[in-house]
Amino acid sequence: MAREAAELFVWLAGQARAEPTPFRVALSGGSTPRTMYARLVEPSLARQVKWQEVEFYFGDERCVPPDHPESNYCSANVSLFQPLKIDPKNIHRMVGEAPDPDQAARDYEAVLRRQFGAAAPVWPRFDFILLGMGEDGHTASLFPGTPALDERERLVVANHSPRGIRDRITFTAPLINAARVVLFLVCGENKAPTARAVLEGGGQDPRRYPAQLIRPTQGRLLWFLDQAAASELAVARQQVVSNEE
Ligand code: 6PG
Repeated sequence: MAREAAELFVWLAGQARAEPTPFRVALSGGSTPRTMYARLVEPSLARQVKWQEVEFYFGDERCVPPDHPESNYCSANVSLFQPLKIDPKNIHRMVGEAPDPDQAARDYEAVLRRQFGAAAPVWPRFDFILLGMGEDGHTASLFPGTPALDERERLVVANHSPRGIRDRITFTAPLINAARVVLFLVCGENKAPTARAVLEGGGQDPRRYPAQLIRPTQGRLLWFLDQAAASELAVARQQVVSNEE
């Protein structure tokens, strides 16, 4: 799964070279992306990307300093930016350590509008947004039942997590849904029940499962799950049966 995701990144970055704008990527936090980063920094893949044409952003951040072990920027810096020697001018982190998360969210929104040349009401359109999913169905820092789920105007808002680092900064669903490609990267048996509920649950209940808010308006939505995370999906069971026949 991680290799497939890394190869998709390389392919998309290659396609973006035909564009006059940089390949703009928003990374997710958590641990799953590190499996993909480990493949991406391998010379066989890394050498296929013109990294000076890639701009890195973050879909969410914990309100901690950039060298904090819980910082999404810190995780990407150690496992991706430093190994690839990414130029710091191509990295746009959310200022998690700011004293006022709401102001930090507004500042990041201004960075996005400036970098994309997208004044309101235009939605900046990312080329690629990487997302994970929590066992509770959250994605980015869009947690079940929280105010950020209802935001339809702002690009970036402060929000709260029910566990871990409480104060967060996060993309809103409309910003994510403006992207060209959105990839969910989900692994582990602990995610299987939620993956089934989100993807095959029959009903839409995005306040309970915020991952269901992610439906790109003019882009592609991809879910990459490993066998464990997909183990309760009907479509996966059909696939296993057909392979066994
Ligand atoms: C974060 C992430 C979050 C993450 C999920 C899955 O800041 O925590 O953006 O949405 O993607 O919690 O995390 P794992 O990949 O560690 O399971």
